[in-house]
Amino acid sequence: MAFAKISQVAHYVPEQVITNNDLALVMDTSDEWISSRTGIKERHISKTEFTSDFATEVAKSLLNRAGLTADQIDFIIVATVTPDSLMPSTAARVQANIGAFKAFAFDLTAACSGFIFALSVAEKFISSGSYQRGIVIGAETLSKSVDWTDRSTAVLFGDGAGGVLLERSESQHFLAESLHSDGSRGDCLAFGKTPLTSPFSIEEKTESILKMDGRAVFDFATRDVAKSIQNTIESSPLSVDELDYLLLHQANIRILDKMAKKLGVNRDKIPANIMSYGNTSAASIPILLSDCVEKGFIHLDGSQKILMTGFGGGLTWGTVIVKL
Ligand code: ACO
Repeated sequence: MAFAKISQVAHYVPEQVITNNDLALVMDTSDEWISSRTGIKERHISKTEFTSDFATEVAKSLLNRAGLTADQIDFIIVATVTPDSLMPSTAARVQANIGAFKAFAFDLTAACSGFIFALSVAEKFISSGSYQRGIVIGAETLSKSVDWTDRSTAVLFGDGAGGVLLERSESQHFLAESLHSDGSRGDCLAFGKTPLTSPFSIEEKTESILKMDGRAVFDFATRDVAKSIQNTIESSPLSVDELDYLLLHQANIRILDKMAKKLGVNRDKIPANIMSYGNTSAASIPILLSDCVEKGFIHLDGSQKILMTGFGGGLTWGTVIVKL
């Protein structure tokens, strides 16, 4: 029987930092409003780079850290809702940039749950016994998709990428998972609908920029997602107390506070870096994981049990529990 394990983590964010005060210069907002409602103080915003540029830097770091060459990679999956283009995929661009010519590569779209969904797919590839190792990246350039005239959403998001190297292992590291979607509630967080443009179609009004019902998303996260986390823990061989850390999608600090209460977990076990990155959608969990490894809270030596949960557009939500 084949198993998969996360053997390396890495992240990359563009250099330019935009503070809440910088935003207050270009729209009617304030540091006080943004930090008290969301916890965000600053975010990284791309000046010139696209999603594939961030993802390429992550892939290069993963290879360097593992001491591998690109031809040893079997597949590359990039979770993103802000690809450079629909064709070629962001993952195919990364494959070309690093020269991983033996790898197959594709993008996966599940909004802020994208990294968790991609990790689950990658784990199945490896545990099937057909593949030895793959790269899974969450990468976004949300700054190109938000409506910069809408202060209620523009202040929330940031750009960046994070990812993991997944390799075959002798022992079980993926302990539980659950993935969910509810398309009937999709309209509360949506963007990117493309219009019908053929001469044989009737023109339809479309929304290409991000629209969000903030309250509905807040309630979804703190009710449905919190319940789903509880169910996933119950289906696992672990109790909540045996988890070392819960890495939750960084959408809003108040969501994290409320989740801690609902799950009966000490707040210190739910790390946050939304203050410095904003909401980076599919990139948020791997950036947080990589941050925690850099800061020394999380080690990749098989000694810790970590829960990771993504939630967002679709609606989608998903949890994996892994031994790291
Ligand atoms: N600066 C100043 N004032 C603002 C801003 C801003 N950036 N944005 C909105 N306001 C104003 C509104 O116009 C409104 O003013 P009014 O009362 O005069 O009409 C007032 O602030 C309150 O607005 P609400 O939208 O009701 O604010 P709320 O307290 O709900 O907070 C927020 C908004 C932070 C988005 C909240 O609903 C939330 O956290 N929702 C969770 C959704 C989320 O985190 N989404 C992230 C992306 S989704 C995802 O990743 C899953």
